[in-house]
Amino acid sequence: HRTAAVIPAAGRGVRLGPGAPKALRTLGGTPMLIHAVRAMARSRAVTLVVVVAPADGTVEVRRMLDEHALPERTQILVVPGGETRQESVRAGLDALPADITAVLIHDAARPLVPVDTVDSVVEAVRDGALAVVPALPLSDTVKEVEPGRPGEPEPVVSTPVRARLRAVQTPQGFDLATLRLAHEKLARLSGDGEGATDDAGMVEQLGVTVVAVPGHEEAFKVTRPLDLVLAEAVLARRRA
Ligand code: CTP
Ligand code: MG
Repeated sequence: HRTAAVIPAAGRGVRLGPGAPKALRTLGGTPMLIHAVRAMARSRAVTLVVVVAPADGTVEVRRMLDEHALPERTQILVVPGGETRQESVRAGLDALPADITAVLIHDAARPLVPVDTVDSVVEAVRDGALAVVPALPLSDTVKEVEPGRPGEPEPVVSTPVRARLRAVQTPQGFDLATLRLAHEKLARLSGDGEGATDDAGMVEQLGVTVVAVPGHEEAFKVTRPLDLVLAEAVLARRRA
């Protein structure tokens, strides 16, 4: 069993606002992507990390990785990403050598995931699960609505029972052959231009069982400006 991590980091970070590509923005003075690579490399199981960089930024990302201290035993590859997250993940999978049997897919935008969370995903895959997601109960109640024009009131369609809902995070862990199959089948099906934003959701569409293990509050995704404030505070608390 050899496990690799693929880190999609090719997004622009539109919701974060103007500036450098999101993965290259800094937290505590260090690029988010470096935090994310370290978070994966901290897991003993991970010996290879594939960074999927913005297509016009692979040279800059390679240089950035070389400038930061990373564990010696971790091999790091950089490949160019695509227009959607799904395409970027596919590019990462295509770069994996033949001896890899299990893979973690981890958002560069979740730089602070604790190693215990990574390890519990790895362990569930090693125990035989084909697809594993870290997940947390929700604090907010969720409603399904009939989406209308922005700013207009939207009719509520239903209210799922909150206790049965989970918010899913990354790293998500997979049997590599299973995730590859999902990408091959769904590359031909998905035509909405957005692509899948959840790797496990693609595997679900194959009819394969996905299991959830406990996620962690600190594995939240940096999406909007307020998330940067929280991420800086979490780092400061760790360093105190
Ligand atoms: N991602 C990627 N390739 C894309 C789009 C997204 O590799 N074409 C990556 C992002 O870099 C990020 C992860 O997928 O690490 C999760 O996506 P998201 O949080 O949506 O990041 P962005 O797409 O960059 O942000 P936004 O949607 O606000 O533009
Ligand atoms: Mg996005």
